[in-house]
Amino acid sequence: MKKVITYGTYDLLHQGHVNLLKRAKALGDYLIVGVTNDNFDRDRGKLNVRNNVLERVDAVKATGLADQIIIEDYVGQKIDDVQKYDVDIFAIGSDWEGKFDYLNEFCEVVYLPRTEGISSTMLRAESQDVVKVGIIGCGRVARRFPFEANVVNGVSITAAYDSNSDASLKFAKDFEGVVSYKDLSDFYKNVDAVYIATPHLSHYDNIKTSLLAGKHVLCETPMVLKFLEAKELYKLAEKQGVILMEANKTAHCPAFNHLMVMIKSGLIGEVVDIEASLSQLLDKTGREFDPNQAGGAMFEQGSYPLLPILKLMGINYESIQLFSRMENGVDVHTKGLIKYPKAVCTFKVGLGVKTEGNLVISGTKGYAYVPAPWWKTDYFELRYEDSNDNKKFFYKWDGFGLRYEIQEFISCIYNHRFSTARLRRRESICMAEIMEQFSLRKNFFKI
Ligand code: CTP
Repeated sequence: MKKVITYGTYDLLHQGHVNLLKRAKALGDYLIVGVTNDNFDRDRGKLNVRNNVLERVDAVKATGLADQIIIEDYVGQKIDDVQKYDVDIFAIGSDWEGKFDYLNEFCEVVYLPRTEGISSTMLRAESQDVVKVGIIGCGRVARRFPFEANVVNGVSITAAYDSNSDASLKFAKDFEGVVSYKDLSDFYKNVDAVYIATPHLSHYDNIKTSLLAGKHVLCETPMVLKFLEAKELYKLAEKQGVILMEANKTAHCPAFNHLMVMIKSGLIGEVVDIEASLSQLLDKTGREFDPNQAGGAMFEQGSYPLLPILKLMGINYESIQLFSRMENGVDVHTKGLIKYPKAVCTFKVGLGVKTEGNLVISGTKGYAYVPAPWWKTDYFELRYEDSNDNKKFFYKWDGFGLRYEIQEFISCIYNHRFSTARLRRRESICMAEIMEQFSLRKNFFKI
């Protein structure tokens, strides 16, 4: 029996794919089709794949041409597969001419004619209306956004607004296609969604006004600093039929997500302890040190270490204690201790104190170690009593890392998903609750 293998993403399965599969099948008696998994595609820069791996596998299955479907997970897998499945012919479209000659050592390599005039990229571009995003708050943080949005399909930055019109004018001048607006109602007329990157204390008003104008909202973290405000805003978003998302970039980072999924599936046993830290030494004249603008380490950085804690242990903690060193009305260092019925978690944030910024998640079977800067994870280890069982995981963190959250925001808009599993509304609300506890100095100790 002659075995043929071929690989692809097969997003929005089209006639080009079907023709290719037919041609590949005709080369032998048994066709194996490798479908790329979502992480693998993301790692190789394909950020815009519309169908998830299960949908793509189903689509290939539905052609009736594949005798076996496998998942392609990692670079180098093709050599392993050819040997493992005892493959005679590796076939692929002519757009890959020459790229897989290295497989000649293991089997025959055939480049098949590609069907002209159709591709998944084309279909994605045709089927997608572009979401027009306007930016409110044109400072340092917002400047990363257009660069990152550029690599995500289906989004375009069209408008800028800032209470300081010089800032929005400069933004519009620096980024092509962006128009600066002085008047918010004119601004809203020209956008479908907004990205809010104003100082923390303006978020609530900016979000509410935008939701009431019927716009989807992606707001920088911390979204708001009060429990009831967070609850009210998510409710309002749902009532208005629009998406509200907190822009916590770690939550959308591929490596972090994979780590969460692995831990939730029991790879280190039951989680008993989490330690997460993050610190930055910043110029003390900045907004981050101004008590009137909600400065301080907890507000500035707290939502990052709270993320793995709330994702893994949930929102029903028993108690939380906060210990801070205060300077001129803001915390330059805060240590938090969160007690759950069967676990204890600690976190440290610092703007004026430097500490090791790693994440350690300890379980009954082993622990996860994520070195600094774990909040833009591209590498982590699972470690066990027997070090032979240890596993290292490597990923790619592209650009400023905002592309992942932008992609999820756009996907939520298209698919009418009000909540993303990567940062659930209840988790975001719980973060606001903890920030509020800090503002109220509840269970708070000065050091
Ligand atoms: N293919 C083809 N003819 C096309 C499009 C794809 O023969 N018009 C082949 C590719 O050469 C490959 C297989 O189909 O062997 C799977 O390709 P894939 O990358 O999934 O499809 P594309 O449409 O090229 O996707 P994209 O636009 O995302 O690159």
